[in-house]
Amino acid sequence: MASVLPTYPKARRIRFRFDQHDSNDKYFVDGDMVFSHFVAGLSGGFPPGEESFIRSVRRVAERVTDPVLKKRVTGFVGQEAMHGQEHRRLNEKLVEMGYPIAWYDSPTQLERMLGIESRLPAEVHVAMTAAAEHFTAVLAERVLSSDEIQSIPAEPEFWQLLNWHALEELEHKSVAFDVFRAIGGSERMRIGVMLAMYSLTLPLTYGSLAYALATDPVARRQPVRVAREAYQLFTGPIFRGLMGELAKYLRPGFHPDDIDTTALLARWQQELFGDEGVLNDHLK
Ligand SMILES: [Fe+2]
Ligand SMILES: [Fe+2]
Repeated sequence: MASVLPTYPKARRIRFRFDQHDSNDKYFVDGDMVFSHFVAGLSGGFPPGEESFIRSVRRVAERVTDPVLKKRVTGFVGQEAMHGQEHRRLNEKLVEMGYPIAWYDSPTQLERMLGIESRLPAEVHVAMTAAAEHFTAVLAERVLSSDEIQSIPAEPEFWQLLNWHALEELEHKSVAFDVFRAIGGSERMRIGVMLAMYSLTLPLTYGSLAYALATDPVARRQPVRVAREAYQLFTGPIFRGLMGELAKYLRPGFHPDDIDTTALLARWQQELFGDEGVLNDHLK
């Protein structure tokens, strides 16, 4: 049995069973084409994104001297590596289903990312990770706390993956942030990096979603459906009030733990990995 509320984020070795749920419906989230493309795009971006997060903290690992923070970094790296591994397994299936997400994780894209990273000071790279971790923590809190989101029909194994990932995002939400502080990263840089990422959020979301939909023959035949579903997505429980929550990070002096998610975390740790945890049988 996994412990509840570990002192350090702890990587759980887990394996999902995507092949046992062979649904014929391409639009696996509630039969909703736009929502499904959005979720597939998120999943497509996770493995390469999370590997960049890992590289960023490894670049500065030797400058982290605090033994507790060092252990938290180890847990963070282990969790992100496992997220990438399981999302990659889901992504293979999504590519087979016709989602145009393979490019996120392609050698060309990796080369491009490594090129950009090599030109960035290590502190900026860590600041980008810390900011991105605020995005994932805000999304994770939404996913785990909203009954409206939890009741969206989708394949059970997909939900399990999402809830496990969201749980661990909350467990390690302040690690990259604390690494950034430990290496002397300034508030000016932290906020500046977030401001840039914040302003790109909606353009990049719209752009990648528009690209994905443009490749889908069903979307091209049904523009009214696309417009209706896009409206529902961007006014629905995922996006409603999202930009305001993301903006909290811009406040000088902000720390991820200012947003108290301990009760939510404890509830989901129990639900997924407690005595009767629904995912205990997925652990390796
Ligand atoms: Fe993750
Ligand atoms: Fe994360």
